[in-house]
Amino acid sequence: MSAPEQRPAWKALTRLATEFGRRSLSELLADESRNAALALAAPGMLLDFTKQRVTADVVQRLVQLAEQQDLAAQVERLFCGDHVNTTEDRPALHTALRARSGERPGETDAAVAATLSRLSAAATALHRGTLRGYTGKAINDVVHIGIGGSHLGPELAVEALGQAAFGGPRCHFVANVDGEALTTALRGLNPDTTLFIVVSKSFSTVETRVNAVSARSWFVERTARLDALHQHFLAVTANVPAAVEFGIAEDMIYPMWDWVGGRFSLWSAVGLPIALTAGADAFAGLLAGARDMDQHFRSAPFASNGPVLMALMGIWNYNFLGAGSHAVLPYNQRLRLLPDYLQQLEMESNGKSVGLDGSAVGVHSMPIVWGGEGTNGQHAFHQLLHQGTRAFTADFILTAQPEHQLAEHHRWLLANGLAQSQAMMAGQEADDPHRRVAGNKPTTTIVLDRLTPYTLGSLLACYEHKVFCQGVIWNINSFDQWGVELGKRLALPIHDQLGGAAAPHQDASTRRLIAHLRGRQQE
Ligand code: F6P
Repeated sequence: MSAPEQRPAWKALTRLATEFGRRSLSELLADESRNAALALAAPGMLLDFTKQRVTADVVQRLVQLAEQQDLAAQVERLFCGDHVNTTEDRPALHTALRARSGERPGETDAAVAATLSRLSAAATALHRGTLRGYTGKAINDVVHIGIGGSHLGPELAVEALGQAAFGGPRCHFVANVDGEALTTALRGLNPDTTLFIVVSKSFSTVETRVNAVSARSWFVERTARLDALHQHFLAVTANVPAAVEFGIAEDMIYPMWDWVGGRFSLWSAVGLPIALTAGADAFAGLLAGARDMDQHFRSAPFASNGPVLMALMGIWNYNFLGAGSHAVLPYNQRLRLLPDYLQQLEMESNGKSVGLDGSAVGVHSMPIVWGGEGTNGQHAFHQLLHQGTRAFTADFILTAQPEHQLAEHHRWLLANGLAQSQAMMAGQEADDPHRRVAGNKPTTTIVLDRLTPYTLGSLLACYEHKVFCQGVIWNINSFDQWGVELGKRLALPIHDQLGGAAAPHQDASTRRLIAHLRGRQQE
């Protein structure tokens, strides 16, 4: 791989983008053979790229760019367990977590199989009421403590799959170190019937440790039984000694591995709350959907490969048509948390400004990912999407069938989703400039048949692979996140100074703010 802007296809795309400037989406949509090639069936979904500002020529050049960046070889490296995470000298084997037994690379096979059967056994025991607390009462509530990749995927999946359907326990998520999060989650809970899951790959993340320590105190204060911790606290971590030192019994610790990145980990034991609340079969369905997407990604030609095309449309929009942000617009209430999840998956992966060799990237990498569920966003930020000055792209995510009985609601929901993408595409002429809508905004529409464990797994795996492809094309390592370390380190002395410790050198602004906060706290 090398700098993408050196590739002949990049140069050809730059020329095409200049010529392309005035072509309207409405005009492009008149070509039915183009449209047919841009509507793609992938596992459990339709990926409709017809409202993207592309012609067959553009797609062909984008595919050439992927080829010139050696994408096919990089995909094989990913699946085979090569050390694609170069700065940490590790593989990124999230695909092994959903591969079939015997198809997983080397050492991962036995470890994954054993963990999956533990997950399944725990889910079944909880559901049957045989997993009980120290007083013998059945567990009704699960409090999940973790942040970032150890939180966003499980919370999204638990909400998407619907807690009520399986009849499992209620799951409460605590991520923020803001004590409000834990206080709210614990309000009204009975320690006898509550199970805590502390999820942290490193077991050293401050937010998770602080929340876990307070949760432990809450539990011990109410039960006066330190030994009962062993039945009420689970951990998912790669740092077993730290979890044991915290007080979690070794047989209550589920493994994480350094060959799985946090933001790619919901398929591992990090997904325990999904299995506990939606059931072992649902968790297996999630893995099956992801596995089918993996196979599609690994085998389909680039021009009809869902994740590859998603990645290439993004590159075209961000690098050639000037889009600086990407809106994720799920038209499904249960996918309300998808934008949050994708913010971490995409921006923590590809928000980088150095290439694999450590030199500055010569092109823009990741745009800002944001969004929110339809139809609520239509009455909030869509105004900017229709008449703002900045270029953007958007993904609309629709489900053909609802998971509830209110058919009329669902028809309105779908009508609004389609109307919004139509408005962004066609715009509206008007004499009054205040009423004019420019249109020509590139969007993708993803239609899931239904929101099931299978389709959710396929959807999330599709985005994972999109992220990988874009990283390959931008020539960056999508699997590290060094940028987040600085703030963590700086918070340590500031925390101590806020508590009154002697001040090491701080810049004038931070020093004044610390003094102000301390003054206000003492009043
Ligand atoms: O925010 C940085 C980060 O390291 C993420 O990559 C990770 O998902 C999150 O913190 C949580 O880390 P851990 O699972 O080690 O607590």
